[in-house]
Amino acid sequence: KRVAVLISGRGSNMTALIEACKDPAYPAEIIAVLSNKPDAAGLDVARSHGIEAIAVPQKDYPSRAAHEEALNAELARIAPDVICLAGYMRLMSADFVGQWEGRMINIHPSLLPLFKGLDSHARALESGMRVHGCTVHFVTAEMDGGPIIAQGVVPVKADDTEETLSARVLKVEHKLYPLALKLVAEGKVAMVGGEARFQGPEG
Ligand code: GRF
Repeated sequence: KRVAVLISGRGSNMTALIEACKDPAYPAEIIAVLSNKPDAAGLDVARSHGIEAIAVPQKDYPSRAAHEEALNAELARIAPDVICLAGYMRLMSADFVGQWEGRMINIHPSLLPLFKGLDSHARALESGMRVHGCTVHFVTAEMDGGPIIAQGVVPVKADDTEETLSARVLKVEHKLYPLALKLVAEGKVAMVGGEARFQGPEG
């Protein structure tokens, strides 16, 4: 499957996906990386792996609609089967999401439906959670609200700070995202009627 990755920053999850795709048995290939931030460190990382990396800076466009149109023009040319959001920090319109529904997935650093949005690690700590984690889900118009594909769990330790906890979660993110993309690329999970439908070994 042809995969495009959308980033806004360092792109460590993008890198994990690139590494996973190096295995010839892996059912997906990263064909392009796009960023809404021209200075995203992940763009250079992608280039260093020989992958086309394109900035579509939102500041170059007068509106969200115009920016999404530009993004869609690039995506139409790239023609991915699947879009992976990996630290893409811009909300998408329902229209844009609708065009890619069932073919766009995201990783979020919490055990959804808990702690949607920003600062999930701080909020998990504040809430006294003893476990925390990350979720890969299909993207729908509701931010961080789409059907769940896979989750990874970590313990919260007594002396954790936002930094130690987020680092522990990030390590799991780097394992979880390749696993989840594999499920999607192999058709072992699909979005049907607004829900994630999983296929057993017998189909
Ligand atoms: C990750 O924690 C991801 O879950 C969240 O944003 C962060 C991106 O990190 N959506 P990176 O750019 O993949 O290193």
